[in-house]
Amino acid sequence: MTYLRGTNGYFIKDMKILLLGSGGRECAIAWKLAQSPKCDELFIAPGNAGTSAYGKNVPIKVNEFDRIADFCKQEGVGMIVVGPEDPLVNGVADYFEGSGIKVIGPSKAAAQLEGSKDFCKQFMTRNGIPTARYQSFTAADYDDACRFLDTLKAPYVLKADGLAAGKGVLIIEDLAEAKRELKEMLGGMFGAASSTVVIEEFMSGIECSVFVLTDGEGHYKILPVAKDYKRIGEGDTGLNTGGMGNCSPVPFADAEFMQKVEERIVKPTISGLLKENLKYKGFIFLGLIRMDRDIQHYHAGDPMVIEYNVRMGDPETEVVMPRIKSDLVELLEGVADGNLDTKTLEEDPRTAVTVVLVSGGYPGSYEKGKVMAGLDDELFTQGVVSPEDNARKSILFHAGTAVKDGDIVTAGGRVICVTSYGNDRNEALAQSMRGAEIIKFDGKYYRRDIGQDLNKF
Ligand code: AMP
Ligand code: GLY
Repeated sequence: MTYLRGTNGYFIKDMKILLLGSGGRECAIAWKLAQSPKCDELFIAPGNAGTSAYGKNVPIKVNEFDRIADFCKQEGVGMIVVGPEDPLVNGVADYFEGSGIKVIGPSKAAAQLEGSKDFCKQFMTRNGIPTARYQSFTAADYDDACRFLDTLKAPYVLKADGLAAGKGVLIIEDLAEAKRELKEMLGGMFGAASSTVVIEEFMSGIECSVFVLTDGEGHYKILPVAKDYKRIGEGDTGLNTGGMGNCSPVPFADAEFMQKVEERIVKPTISGLLKENLKYKGFIFLGLIRMDRDIQHYHAGDPMVIEYNVRMGDPETEVVMPRIKSDLVELLEGVADGNLDTKTLEEDPRTAVTVVLVSGGYPGSYEKGKVMAGLDDELFTQGVVSPEDNARKSILFHAGTAVKDGDIVTAGGRVICVTSYGNDRNEALAQSMRGAEIIKFDGKYYRRDIGQDLNKF
């Protein structure tokens, strides 16, 4: 326990925090947690070559709950912040219930909002939350599923019900092909994840990611909005990836749009969780679409929900964390203690852009172990960037990196994210482009157009 002198006398810096995960998202969360005067010690399990700048990496996997519990006891950890969905869907919050350790993440039952698309659609329907019309089918109802497809217009949206590592959604133009793919899915194309398939109507518009922090007592805060760039190629072409870049804020998510999001989506989501006794203390990720035409009784310009995730997005977090001015530990204590209403959330008014540097071949097969250079350039910082330094400094958030024989090497498809600030998207992007050029590794690839499509708004 450390005693620190604050403006109001002494306070205790006693929170030891364990962050679960190993991606760019966790590196950005670690960066933010480590800035808190309340964070006494930070551990990241298992972390990556970048997270060790902010805390101690611990070689425990995110689903090894018994080992996590032993470690927490041994070190006196008071809070676990869960990065990825997997341990949440596996019940990490329930596992620690009653242990005295605060877990930031929903219960296993609530994590089904991401773990099962069918559960998620039923939740939205019960709570009157705007989303595409849908029906769910198993192999036994193939003929019914085909009849449902006949009632829809192209393109056809087929979704594996369960977790499929972000690959379980097919959008198909041709009806006959949709029926063929449906058969494949129900036959095990995505293993057990597609033994149930959700078929839904297509929503046309532009997407954004809205994050909500909630404390399980009906209080919530809406975090800075981000836009994800999922396709591998510039101009949003080519295969889907985990995300090639992000920017925040999002110009079309203006006050009028966000008011609709709050009234029609956030409030009914929070009250639905309470009503249905789905314990949720953590981050809710709303994958939203701003419709560009009327559908059902909704109008062009309205928000609808594509999906819920029960965690922060990656690489959304790499722009959302840098845009939160307030102390994240303070906010997370509010989440854990059910008094988030007493905490303040202040946003940084600057624009943030992150660009993801990926391994050549990603999202297909790629090689790992490439030695990286340029990471210690003076352009990069591990700290905060003041407005005067917008055009001089960028933050590096490691994603797939590891240390090998004293070198930092690539260890994944998405390797490292370069986040920069600017007074607008162009300034922030230009700075991230400087950083992206300085970093070297064999096969490096990145998009140069993150945020550029938003210039029309
Ligand atoms: P998901 O795995 O649910 O995030 O879906 C992946 C992507 O598929 C989304 O980000 C959307 O771009 C697209 N998508 C999913 N459902 C729909 C829908 N009903 N209408 C249009 N696009 C969709
Ligand atoms: N970037 C999208 C996600 O985290 O699911």
